[in-house]
Amino acid sequence: MLRGRRAECEGVERLLARARAGRSGVLVVRGEAGIGKTALLEHASAAATGMRIVRAVGVEAETEFAYAGLHQVCARVLDQVGALPGPQQVALSVALGQRDGDPPDRFLVGLATLSLLAEVAEERPVLCLVDDAQWLDAASAQTLAFVARRAEADRLAMVFALRDPCPDGTGESVRRLAGAARGRARRGGLPSLARHRGVELF
Ligand SMILES: Nc1ncnc2c1ncn2[C@@H]1O[C@H](COP(=O)(O)OP(=O)(O)OP(=O)(O)O)[C@@H](O)[C@H]1O
Ligand SMILES: [Mg+2]
Repeated sequence: MLRGRRAECEGVERLLARARAGRSGVLVVRGEAGIGKTALLEHASAAATGMRIVRAVGVEAETEFAYAGLHQVCARVLDQVGALPGPQQVALSVALGQRDGDPPDRFLVGLATLSLLAEVAEERPVLCLVDDAQWLDAASAQTLAFVARRAEADRLAMVFALRDPCPDGTGESVRRLAGAARGRARRGGLPSLARHRGVELF
């Protein structure tokens, strides 16, 4: 247990318990540099017994590379892309440089990512960890925000860490990520909001 983070750790553990029970959920961990966001993600990882973990870290030098973040999320589960409907398979494979094609429709890439994670979650509930989301490329942020809004009964837990204040250059898509999580919270789909020592959970 992290020192002084009982409420946040419990929020994360509730999210994992819900995912194991078949209800998807999203947390956005927001706070200033060094406040303990990555530490909380590591706690989530350690607490995710029996779950499949996929993860990405936003990299400042890669914010201009479309789908660089999504590539990290999907890398280890791409072998299951064959289970997706054809158009989704093509869209995701082209987006991630696995096959030739015109730039894919972003909606289809979003659907494909949701389907892929749902497919993986059929075997084991999935925890998707995204650290330093403020540096995600726009295409990945948009896709992951779509998944965060749409995941319902897919046994999928998502935790995003987002630095506050968002540094210069943080894209609109990333800002929307937090909005997507807040929207779910208002609909009652999230563990209760905790605000403690500079970290906010939505
Ligand atoms: N609750 C805690 N108890 C003890 N140590 C902590 C706690 N939270 C964070 N730390 C330690 O403080 C340091 C900074 O934490 P961390 O890297 O998680 O911050 P961060 O919010 O991710 O920062 P950044 O925005 O730069 O990514 C790390 O060495 C971490 O192990
Ligand atoms: Mg960090």
